[in-house]
Amino acid sequence: MGLIRKTITESTMLDAAALAAEGAPHGTTVVAQRQTAGVGRFGRKWSSDDEGGLYLSMVLRLPNAGPSLTLALGLAVQEAINEVAGQATDLRWPNDVLLNEKKVAGILVQATDGALIAGIGLNVNQKAFAPELSEIATSLYLSSGRPHDPERFLARIRTLTLHYSALSRPEILRRFEQASTYARGKLVEADGLSGITNGLDPNGFLLVRTETGIRTITAGGVRPSSGTGSP
Ligand code: BTN
Repeated sequence: MGLIRKTITESTMLDAAALAAEGAPHGTTVVAQRQTAGVGRFGRKWSSDDEGGLYLSMVLRLPNAGPSLTLALGLAVQEAINEVAGQATDLRWPNDVLLNEKKVAGILVQATDGALIAGIGLNVNQKAFAPELSEIATSLYLSSGRPHDPERFLARIRTLTLHYSALSRPEILRRFEQASTYARGKLVEADGLSGITNGLDPNGFLLVRTETGIRTITAGGVRPSSGTGSP
């Protein structure tokens, strides 16, 4: 399973996609110390201009993968953080890993020619975030008060990603529902509506019970609602 290391790159997503186009096998990983144009979901910038974070992308050749792959990656990152740092995290559907209600890792899955590229950004040793991020982002350093070795997370995330992504879809969904407080019974806002989460559908999309019935959230994300709790 190949591992390509870069000191600095534009985005490991681009590097991994280029390797996939050349036929790189399942599990091939690119990791960078810094990215000059790290990307998040919906083309958002992923802050990666210092060396405090772990930035990696893996080539995954999984012909039957669907939306549940992002959920499997969340399980892998959650378990790696638990094993290596001893810190319990929450998973916010579909792609956020939360520590003390703030984002400690993000996941991005992109389809390319014949392969999927799984990108993971984990905030390891950042001592501070830009003012616009400080309310919503945290790092393992900030939550534990001590530095962590990014290499240990890299090794476990790679192994656990291969493990969780190989599970059946029902098994991934079952484990995600157990691992995430957002999957069921949480008052959220999503896709312009407010309601209480009601589990996942068989594809891995989020079900939300609203005043007008059960809605399926297929895109975007969710955030806790400031509402009263109805319905
Ligand atoms: C998100 O939460 O929006 C997803 C963030 C994914 C960031 C990672 S960092 C490694 C890889 N390279 C990128 O440019 N993005 C992903």
